[in-house]
Order: sequence, then structure tokens, then C-alpha cells
Amino acid sequence: MNLAILFYSFSGNTKAAVEYIKKGWEEKGSFCRLFQLKPRKETTSFLGQCFRTARRQAAEIELADLDITSYELILFASPVWALTYTPALRGAVEKLKLKDKKAAIVLTYGSGAGKERARKELQQDLEAKGAKVVFSGLLRGRNCCDRDYIKRELASFFKMVGNAPVAQPDRAQASGA
Ligand SMILES: Cc1cc2nc3c(=O)[nH]c(=O)nc-3n(C[C@H](O)[C@H](O)[C@H](O)COP(=O)(O)O)c2cc1C
Repeated sequence: MNLAILFYSFSGNTKAAVEYIKKGWEEKGSFCRLFQLKPRKETTSFLGQCFRTARRQAAEIELADLDITSYELILFASPVWALTYTPALRGAVEKLKLKDKKAAIVLTYGSGAGKERARKELQQDLEAKGAKVVFSGLLRGRNCCDRDYIKRELASFFKMVGNAPVAQPDRAQASGA
């Protein structure tokens, strides 16, 4: 099953986790591509980030390179911020066409405050866009470089890869953005 991973990472934990997921996926012979979400404008102060996130503001995301039409599974990954998911991921979810897409969620967290609420909210938002959420997982940010931990926490996600090698999706297909 080919996999597109759309992720946002501010301090590197989520990025480390998705890089491992990509590697694990490819080791099983399937294709995976990472799409890092970069807001056009970004607040870097903690309070500013919390304020915008808590207000459910969506960041403006550059989606020109984001063609997800030919992927069988889309993984949405983000840190938990202010008890929900990040403005960057919200911006992508709002813009993308997700009807009938198979989706998965991975959120990384610090203290753990609001992690279940964040997961639930992202799932609801994806379902509201017509996606079918087939997996959701939570990872402790400080363990995102620990491959054994990730392998354990995401064991049922890795089972979805299937065994048959899958070719790279046709990039010529219409844009998913
Ligand atoms: C602005 C901000 C708000 C955060 N809010 C929460 C939170 O509500 N709950 C939590 O468990 N962790 C929170 N964290 C911690 C991050 O979720 C955690 O460190 C995460 O792994 C960071 O991922 P990244 O390195 O990919 O950016 C917050 C971090 C930042 C910067």
C-alpha cells in the first residue's frame, strides 16, 4: 500500500518519527513519500503558537507540490499544541480533497495534556471531509528517536503495509490539493 505522510514539526520530534515510519514502510517493499507542511507565516513564540492554536486558526500552507490523489493511505502527523493539533496541519486538512481517502493519524506530545482530545478532534475533522480514518496513534515526543518504541506503539499501523511491492504513484495524475 503506498503511503503519503503529511506532517508538521516545529522542534523535530514528529519529523524524526515520520522518517522512521517511512523507512519501516519502505523496508516492507512499499512506497512512501514525506510532505513537510510549511506555513507561509509562522509565529515562533510559545504563547503566540498556543493562542493561535487554541483559537483553531489554520495556517496558510503551500500545497503546490502536494499531490495526494494516487496514494492509497494518507498519514497526518503533528505535535499536540494547546490541547489540539497544529495550525499547519489544520490548514492542510481544510484545503485538501479527502473524500473517500483512507487516512491515519499520528500525534506527538509532551506532557500528554489534551492528547486524546487532539486525536479525537483531528479524526472528526478528517471524517467531516469524507476521509475514512483507519488508524490513530500517539507518541511521546521524547521517544520519537527510539525506533523500538515507535515500532511497538505503531505495530498495528505497520501491519497495514501489506506484503506486495507497490510502485511509486503516477505523479502525472491530477492534483489532490
Ligand atoms: C506551542 C506548544 C504547545 C504545546 N502544547 C502541548 C499540549 O497541549 N499537550 C502536550 O502534551 N504537549 C504539548 N506541547 C509539546 C509538543 O506536543 C511535543 O514536544 C511534540 O513532540 C513536539 O513535536 P515537534 O518536535 O515535532 O514540534 C506543546 C509544544 C508547543 C511548542
